[in-house]
Amino acid sequence: MTPSEAAETAWSGEVGLRLLASGKVRELYEVDETHVLLVTSDRISAFDVVMAERIPDKGRVLVAMCAFWSEELADVAPTHLVSTELDDLPPSARHEGLVGRIMLCRRADMLPLECIVRGYLSGSAWKEYRSEGTMHGAKLPGGLSESDRLPDPVFTPSTKATEGHDVNISFEEAANLVGADVADRARKISVELYRRGAALAAERGIIIADTKFELGMVDGELVVADEVLTPDSSRFWPVDRWEPGATPPSFDKQPLRDHLDRLDWDKGPPPPPLPGDVVLATRDRYSLPRSTCPTFHH
Ligand SMILES: Nc1ncnc2c1ncn2[C@@H]1O[C@H](COP(=O)(O)OP(=O)(O)OP(=O)(O)O)[C@@H](O)[C@H]1O
Ligand SMILES: [Mg+2]
Repeated sequence: MTPSEAAETAWSGEVGLRLLASGKVRELYEVDETHVLLVTSDRISAFDVVMAERIPDKGRVLVAMCAFWSEELADVAPTHLVSTELDDLPPSARHEGLVGRIMLCRRADMLPLECIVRGYLSGSAWKEYRSEGTMHGAKLPGGLSESDRLPDPVFTPSTKATEGHDVNISFEEAANLVGADVADRARKISVELYRRGAALAAERGIIIADTKFELGMVDGELVVADEVLTPDSSRFWPVDRWEPGATPPSFDKQPLRDHLDRLDWDKGPPPPPLPGDVVLATRDRYSLPRSTCPTFHH
Protein backbone atom coordinates (compact mmCIF):
# COMPACT_ATOMS: atom_id res chain seq x y z
CA MET A 1 0.00 0.00 0.00
CA THR A 2 1.37 3.45 -0.90
CA PRO A 3 1.37 6.26 1.72
CA SER A 4 -1.44 7.89 -0.22
CA GLU A 5 -3.62 4.76 -0.11
CA ALA A 6 -2.78 4.28 3.57
CA ALA A 7 -3.89 7.84 4.34
CA GLU A 8 -7.16 7.26 2.51
CA THR A 9 -7.83 4.07 4.47
CA ALA A 10 -7.06 5.94 7.68
CA TRP A 11 -9.51 8.78 7.16
CA SER A 12 -12.30 6.75 5.64
CA GLY A 13 -12.74 4.79 8.86
CA GLU A 14 -12.27 7.72 11.21
CA VAL A 15 -14.15 10.70 9.89
CA GLY A 16 -16.86 10.02 12.44
CA LEU A 17 -19.62 11.41 10.23
CA ARG A 18 -22.33 9.74 8.16
CA LEU A 19 -21.20 9.02 4.59
CA LEU A 20 -23.80 10.37 2.17
CA ALA A 21 -22.11 9.59 -1.13
CA SER A 22 -18.85 8.46 -2.61
CA GLY A 23 -17.99 9.93 -6.00
CA LYS A 24 -15.12 9.18 -8.31
CA VAL A 25 -12.85 11.57 -6.44
CA ARG A 26 -14.68 12.84 -3.33
CA GLU A 27 -16.44 11.48 -0.29
CA LEU A 28 -19.45 13.47 0.87
CA TYR A 29 -20.28 13.37 4.59
CA GLU A 30 -23.12 14.86 6.56
CA VAL A 31 -22.01 17.40 9.18
CA ASP A 32 -25.45 18.66 10.23
CA GLU A 33 -28.75 19.52 8.60
CA THR A 34 -27.27 22.42 6.68
CA HIS A 35 -23.63 21.45 6.18
CA VAL A 36 -21.67 18.73 4.40
CA LEU A 37 -18.01 17.80 4.37
CA LEU A 38 -16.33 17.05 1.05
CA VAL A 39 -13.12 15.04 1.39
CA THR A 40 -10.99 15.07 -1.75
CA SER A 41 -9.01 11.89 -2.28
CA ASP A 42 -5.95 11.27 -4.46
CA ARG A 43 -8.00 9.12 -6.83
CA ILE A 44 -7.69 9.86 -10.54
CA SER A 45 -10.04 8.89 -13.32
CA ALA A 46 -9.61 8.70 -17.05
CA PHE A 47 -12.44 8.04 -19.50
CA ASP A 48 -14.75 8.00 -16.44
CA VAL A 49 -12.92 4.99 -14.97
CA VAL A 50 -11.18 5.42 -11.60
CA MET A 51 -7.62 4.07 -11.67
CA ALA A 52 -6.50 1.68 -8.93
CA GLU A 53 -3.42 3.79 -8.09
CA ARG A 54 -3.45 7.10 -6.23
CA ILE A 55 -1.65 10.29 -7.32
CA PRO A 56 -0.01 11.45 -4.07
CA ASP A 57 -1.22 14.93 -2.96
CA LYS A 58 -3.59 15.42 -5.89
CA GLY A 59 -6.55 15.94 -3.55
CA ARG A 60 -4.71 18.60 -1.61
CA VAL A 61 -3.92 20.49 -4.78
CA LEU A 62 -7.55 20.38 -5.93
CA VAL A 63 -8.76 21.75 -2.58
CA ALA A 64 -6.16 24.53 -2.67
CA MET A 65 -7.35 25.49 -6.13
CA CYS A 66 -10.99 25.53 -4.99
CA ALA A 67 -10.01 27.74 -2.05
CA PHE A 68 -8.16 30.10 -4.39
CA TRP A 69 -10.99 30.43 -6.92
CA SER A 70 -13.70 30.73 -4.26
CA GLU A 71 -11.92 33.80 -2.92
CA GLU A 72 -11.07 35.20 -6.33
CA LEU A 73 -14.58 34.80 -7.77
CA ALA A 74 -16.59 35.52 -4.62
CA ASP A 75 -18.28 38.54 -6.19
CA VAL A 76 -19.69 36.57 -9.15
CA ALA A 77 -21.95 34.29 -7.10
CA PRO A 78 -22.08 32.91 -3.56
CA THR A 79 -20.01 29.80 -2.88
CA HIS A 80 -20.97 26.72 -0.89
CA LEU A 81 -17.50 26.71 0.68
CA VAL A 82 -17.36 27.64 4.36
CA SER A 83 -13.89 26.51 5.39
CA THR A 84 -10.92 24.34 4.47
CA GLU A 85 -9.59 24.36 8.08
CA LEU A 86 -9.59 21.22 10.19
CA ASP A 87 -10.41 23.25 13.32
CA ASP A 88 -13.79 24.17 11.86
CA LEU A 89 -14.92 20.53 11.72
CA PRO A 90 -16.82 18.81 14.52
CA PRO A 91 -14.23 17.32 16.95
CA SER A 92 -15.04 13.75 15.87
CA ALA A 93 -13.98 14.55 12.30
CA ARG A 94 -10.66 16.27 13.03
CA HIS A 95 -8.41 13.57 11.65
CA GLU A 96 -4.82 14.59 10.83
CA GLY A 97 -4.97 12.69 7.54
CA LEU A 98 -7.64 15.11 6.35
CA VAL A 99 -5.49 18.25 6.54
CA GLY A 100 -5.61 20.05 3.21
CA ARG A 101 -8.25 17.73 1.75
CA ILE A 102 -11.41 19.02 3.30
CA MET A 103 -14.08 21.46 2.30
CA LEU A 104 -16.74 22.23 4.87
CA CYS A 105 -19.67 23.36 2.75
CA ARG A 106 -23.22 24.58 2.97
CA ARG A 107 -25.44 21.70 1.95
CA ALA A 108 -26.90 22.39 -1.46
CA ASP A 109 -29.78 20.93 -3.35
CA MET A 110 -27.77 20.21 -6.50
CA LEU A 111 -29.16 21.05 -9.94
CA PRO A 112 -29.43 17.91 -12.08
CA LEU A 113 -27.08 19.60 -14.58
CA GLU A 114 -23.42 19.88 -15.31
CA CYS A 115 -22.94 23.58 -16.06
CA ILE A 116 -20.29 23.33 -18.76
CA VAL A 117 -18.81 26.42 -20.40
CA ARG A 118 -16.74 26.11 -23.54
CA GLY A 119 -14.36 28.75 -24.85
CA TYR A 120 -12.68 26.37 -27.31
CA LEU A 121 -13.94 23.52 -29.47
CA SER A 122 -12.72 20.27 -27.96
CA GLY A 123 -13.74 16.86 -26.67
CA SER A 124 -17.36 15.81 -27.19
CA ALA A 125 -18.25 19.25 -28.60
CA TRP A 126 -15.65 18.91 -31.35
CA LYS A 127 -16.93 15.40 -32.18
CA GLU A 128 -20.51 16.69 -32.51
CA TYR A 129 -19.44 19.71 -34.56
CA ARG A 130 -17.37 17.55 -36.91
CA SER A 131 -20.31 15.28 -37.69
CA GLU A 132 -23.32 17.63 -37.31
CA GLY A 133 -21.99 21.21 -37.50
CA THR A 134 -23.61 21.88 -34.13
CA MET A 135 -22.55 22.09 -30.49
CA HIS A 136 -25.05 20.74 -27.95
CA GLY A 137 -27.63 21.05 -30.72
CA ALA A 138 -26.93 24.71 -31.52
CA LYS A 139 -25.60 25.76 -34.92
CA LEU A 140 -22.00 27.05 -35.01
CA PRO A 141 -20.17 28.94 -37.77
CA GLY A 142 -18.70 26.65 -40.45
CA GLY A 143 -15.00 25.98 -41.00
CA LEU A 144 -13.90 25.64 -37.38
CA SER A 145 -11.02 23.29 -36.53
CA GLU A 146 -10.45 21.14 -33.48
CA SER A 147 -9.33 23.24 -30.49
CA ASP A 148 -10.37 26.48 -32.26
CA ARG A 149 -11.38 29.37 -30.08
CA LEU A 150 -15.14 29.97 -30.16
CA PRO A 151 -16.33 33.49 -31.01
CA ASP A 152 -17.73 33.71 -27.45
CA PRO A 153 -17.79 31.33 -24.49
CA VAL A 154 -20.94 29.21 -24.61
CA PHE A 155 -22.95 27.59 -21.82
CA THR A 156 -23.31 23.97 -22.93
CA PRO A 157 -25.00 21.94 -20.18
CA SER A 158 -25.16 18.19 -19.82
CA THR A 159 -27.16 15.82 -17.71
CA LYS A 160 -25.56 14.49 -14.53
CA ALA A 161 -25.50 10.75 -15.08
CA THR A 162 -25.38 8.68 -11.91
CA GLU A 163 -23.82 5.92 -13.97
CA GLY A 164 -21.91 6.00 -17.24
CA HIS A 165 -21.37 9.11 -19.33
CA ASP A 166 -23.19 12.44 -19.07
CA VAL A 167 -25.30 13.43 -22.07
CA ASN A 168 -24.84 16.80 -23.76
CA ILE A 169 -28.11 18.75 -23.95
CA SER A 170 -29.31 22.04 -25.39
CA PHE A 171 -30.11 25.10 -23.30
CA GLU A 172 -33.82 24.48 -23.93
CA GLU A 173 -33.55 20.95 -22.55
CA ALA A 174 -31.76 22.32 -19.48
CA ALA A 175 -34.58 24.83 -19.05
CA ASN A 176 -37.08 21.98 -19.18
CA LEU A 177 -35.18 20.22 -16.40
CA VAL A 178 -34.71 23.08 -13.93
CA GLY A 179 -37.05 25.81 -15.16
CA ALA A 180 -36.25 28.68 -17.52
CA ASP A 181 -35.43 31.14 -14.76
CA VAL A 182 -32.95 28.88 -12.95
CA ALA A 183 -31.37 27.77 -16.25
CA ASP A 184 -30.93 31.39 -17.24
CA ARG A 185 -29.28 32.29 -13.93
CA ALA A 186 -27.09 29.19 -14.08
CA ARG A 187 -25.95 30.23 -17.54
CA LYS A 188 -25.12 33.79 -16.48
CA ILE A 189 -23.17 32.66 -13.41
CA SER A 190 -21.29 29.90 -15.24
CA VAL A 191 -20.26 32.06 -18.19
CA GLU A 192 -19.08 34.87 -15.91
CA LEU A 193 -17.08 32.46 -13.71
CA TYR A 194 -15.46 31.06 -16.83
CA ARG A 195 -14.68 34.47 -18.33
CA ARG A 196 -13.06 35.71 -15.16
CA GLY A 197 -11.13 32.50 -14.52
CA ALA A 198 -9.97 32.20 -18.12
CA ALA A 199 -8.78 35.82 -18.16
CA LEU A 200 -6.71 35.29 -15.03
CA ALA A 201 -5.27 32.03 -16.32
CA ALA A 202 -4.42 33.67 -19.67
CA GLU A 203 -2.19 36.15 -17.84
CA ARG A 204 -0.22 33.11 -16.62
CA GLY A 205 0.06 31.50 -20.05
CA ILE A 206 -2.73 28.99 -19.49
CA ILE A 207 -5.78 28.52 -21.69
CA ILE A 208 -8.85 27.21 -19.89
CA ALA A 209 -10.46 25.58 -22.90
CA ASP A 210 -13.62 24.52 -21.10
CA THR A 211 -14.85 23.77 -17.63
CA LYS A 212 -17.71 22.30 -15.67
CA PHE A 213 -19.43 23.92 -12.70
CA GLU A 214 -21.97 22.33 -10.42
CA LEU A 215 -24.53 24.71 -8.99
CA GLY A 216 -27.04 24.08 -6.26
CA MET A 217 -29.72 25.84 -4.25
CA VAL A 218 -29.13 26.97 -0.68
CA ASP A 219 -32.03 28.82 0.96
CA GLY A 220 -33.57 29.60 -2.42
CA GLU A 221 -30.33 31.06 -3.74
CA LEU A 222 -28.16 29.61 -6.51
CA VAL A 223 -24.64 28.87 -5.20
CA VAL A 224 -21.44 27.56 -6.75
CA ALA A 225 -20.90 24.09 -5.29
CA ASP A 226 -18.51 21.17 -5.79
CA GLU A 227 -15.13 22.06 -7.31
CA VAL A 228 -14.19 25.20 -9.21
CA LEU A 229 -11.82 25.48 -12.17
CA THR A 230 -9.58 22.56 -11.28
CA PRO A 231 -7.80 20.36 -13.82
CA ASP A 232 -10.33 17.62 -12.96
CA SER A 233 -13.22 19.82 -14.02
CA SER A 234 -11.50 21.74 -16.83
CA ARG A 235 -9.17 21.48 -19.81
CA PHE A 236 -6.03 23.50 -19.10
CA TRP A 237 -3.71 24.03 -22.05
CA PRO A 238 -0.29 25.71 -22.19
CA VAL A 239 -0.83 28.68 -24.52
CA ASP A 240 2.46 28.07 -26.34
CA ARG A 241 1.39 24.53 -27.26
CA TRP A 242 -2.04 25.51 -28.58
CA GLU A 243 -2.62 25.24 -32.29
CA PRO A 244 -6.03 24.79 -33.96
CA GLY A 245 -6.28 21.46 -35.74
CA ALA A 246 -4.82 19.33 -32.94
CA THR A 247 -5.38 18.57 -29.25
CA PRO A 248 -2.82 20.41 -27.08
CA PRO A 249 -1.26 18.41 -24.23
CA SER A 250 -3.22 18.68 -21.00
CA PHE A 251 -1.32 19.93 -17.97
CA ASP A 252 -2.42 17.23 -15.59
CA LYS A 253 -3.38 13.89 -17.08
CA GLN A 254 -1.18 13.84 -20.19
CA PRO A 255 1.32 11.23 -18.89
CA LEU A 256 -1.65 9.07 -17.86
CA ARG A 257 -3.50 9.55 -21.16
CA ASP A 258 -0.36 8.85 -23.19
CA HIS A 259 0.21 5.66 -21.24
CA LEU A 260 -3.41 4.50 -21.60
CA ASP A 261 -3.38 5.28 -25.32
CA ARG A 262 -0.43 2.95 -25.80
CA LEU A 263 -2.40 0.06 -24.27
CA ASP A 264 -4.96 -2.19 -25.78
CA TRP A 265 -7.59 -1.20 -23.21
CA ASP A 266 -11.30 -0.97 -23.99
CA LYS A 267 -11.75 2.11 -21.70
CA GLY A 268 -14.07 0.18 -19.42
CA PRO A 269 -13.53 -1.11 -15.88
CA PRO A 270 -11.38 -2.66 -14.53
CA PRO A 271 -8.59 -0.14 -15.18
CA PRO A 272 -5.17 -1.39 -16.24
CA PRO A 273 -2.43 -1.18 -13.57
CA LEU A 274 -0.30 1.96 -13.80
CA PRO A 275 3.50 1.74 -13.73
CA GLY A 276 5.24 3.77 -11.00
CA ASP A 277 6.83 6.19 -13.46
CA VAL A 278 3.41 7.13 -14.87
CA VAL A 279 2.12 7.81 -11.34
CA LEU A 280 5.19 9.94 -10.55
CA ALA A 281 5.06 11.83 -13.85
CA THR A 282 1.38 12.61 -13.19
CA ARG A 283 2.14 13.63 -9.63
CA ASP A 284 4.76 16.10 -10.88
CA ARG A 285 2.00 17.87 -12.80
CA TYR A 286 0.10 18.46 -9.59
CA SER A 287 2.95 19.16 -7.17
CA LEU A 288 2.58 22.19 -4.95
CA PRO A 289 4.46 22.85 -1.71
CA ARG A 290 2.11 22.66 1.26
CA SER A 291 3.31 26.06 2.52
CA THR A 292 1.97 27.77 -0.61
CA CYS A 293 -1.50 26.19 -0.54
CA PRO A 294 -4.28 28.77 -0.29
CA THR A 295 -6.83 28.09 2.43
CA PHE A 296 -10.34 29.43 2.88
CA HIS A 297 -12.06 30.56 6.02
CA HIS A 298 -14.69 33.28 6.27
N1 LIG B 1 -22.53 21.75 -1.34
C1 LIG B 1 -22.90 20.54 -1.72
N2 LIG B 1 -24.02 19.97 -1.21
C2 LIG B 1 -24.39 18.72 -1.59
N3 LIG B 1 -23.73 17.96 -2.50
C3 LIG B 1 -22.61 18.47 -3.05
C4 LIG B 1 -22.13 19.78 -2.69
N4 LIG B 1 -21.00 20.03 -3.40
C5 LIG B 1 -20.77 18.93 -4.16
N5 LIG B 1 -21.73 17.99 -3.96
C6 LIG B 1 -21.80 16.64 -4.59
O1 LIG B 1 -20.74 15.87 -4.02
C7 LIG B 1 -20.25 14.92 -4.97
C8 LIG B 1 -18.74 15.08 -5.15
O2 LIG B 1 -18.19 13.87 -5.54
P1 LIG B 1 -17.24 13.73 -6.82
O3 LIG B 1 -16.69 15.06 -7.24
O4 LIG B 1 -16.28 12.64 -6.53
O5 LIG B 1 -18.32 13.28 -7.92
P2 LIG B 1 -17.94 12.55 -9.27
O6 LIG B 1 -18.26 11.11 -9.16
O7 LIG B 1 -16.55 12.97 -9.61
O8 LIG B 1 -18.89 13.16 -10.29
P3 LIG B 1 -18.44 14.22 -11.37
O9 LIG B 1 -17.47 13.53 -12.28
O10 LIG B 1 -19.72 14.60 -12.01
O11 LIG B 1 -17.79 15.34 -10.63
C9 LIG B 1 -21.00 15.19 -6.26
O12 LIG B 1 -22.08 14.30 -6.37
C10 LIG B 1 -21.52 16.61 -6.08
O13 LIG B 1 -22.67 16.86 -6.83
MG1 LIG C 1 -17.05 15.90 -9.13
